[in-house]
Amino acid sequence: NAYWVIVPAAGSGKRMGADKPKQYLPLAGTPLIAHTLDNILQWPGLAGIVVAIAADDQEFEALTAAQDPRVHRVTGGAERADSVLAALDYLSQLADPETSVLVHDAARPLVSRSDIQSLLNASAIALLAQPASDTIKQSRCSNGKTLVNQTLPRQQIWLAQTPQKAPLQLLRRALQRGLEQCPESITDEASALELAGHAPELVSACRSNFKITHPADLMLAEALLQHRQALEQI
Ligand code: CTP
Ligand code: MG
Repeated sequence: NAYWVIVPAAGSGKRMGADKPKQYLPLAGTPLIAHTLDNILQWPGLAGIVVAIAADDQEFEALTAAQDPRVHRVTGGAERADSVLAALDYLSQLADPETSVLVHDAARPLVSRSDIQSLLNASAIALLAQPASDTIKQSRCSNGKTLVNQTLPRQQIWLAQTPQKAPLQLLRRALQRGLEQCPESITDEASALELAGHAPELVSACRSNFKITHPADLMLAEALLQHRQALEQI
């Protein structure tokens, strides 16, 4: 069953603090987003990719992947959810309402093929996530100090990653309503789907699928890439 992938890539990378958006920073000599798109283009059963890029983007067209006929682009929005919704609006003109859509951050270049296969085999509404390895504390503020409010049961805590998968029209409606009703709580696709009454399936993924957010993450990704290439040479 063919599916589409949406890649939000319209962020400015504030936490990275570089002179350009993090998706265009070099990772092992190639822009970060090129790793992500080249990876996705090899996923089995892919129908196409819709990339959401910033209105003032100067770099996307120079990417090799931008020349691939399966790669489409739309202008993103102010928040990640607005960028995803712009891509879903575009896609709803091209694809069947029931088509499966995987939304994957441009900033996650190292997602593994076996995790993608697990997600494709999972329920229609599902996401990659990592079981928490640290104990998670919920906090509260008191007299200017941050105190533990409670410890959450770790067995039930997962860290959401991407891709997150859902049928096209169902996801579009959930994001539209979620953005109308409480935009601040829509931090991923699953949160919008939960608000609409769905219970997405959690699919356990590798830790290498971390999101490149801070400068040290680029170094970590580069080291992992070198390791991967070394492994393939053995
Ligand atoms: N994104 C997007 N449109 C936005 C904001 C984010 O398409 N208005 C994309 C980013 O480009 C990234 C993904 O959503 O691929 C995940 O967001 P995040 O890691 O938060 O990236 P930035 O928003 O760019 O980084 P920061 O929050 O540090 O500014
Ligand atoms: Mg952000």
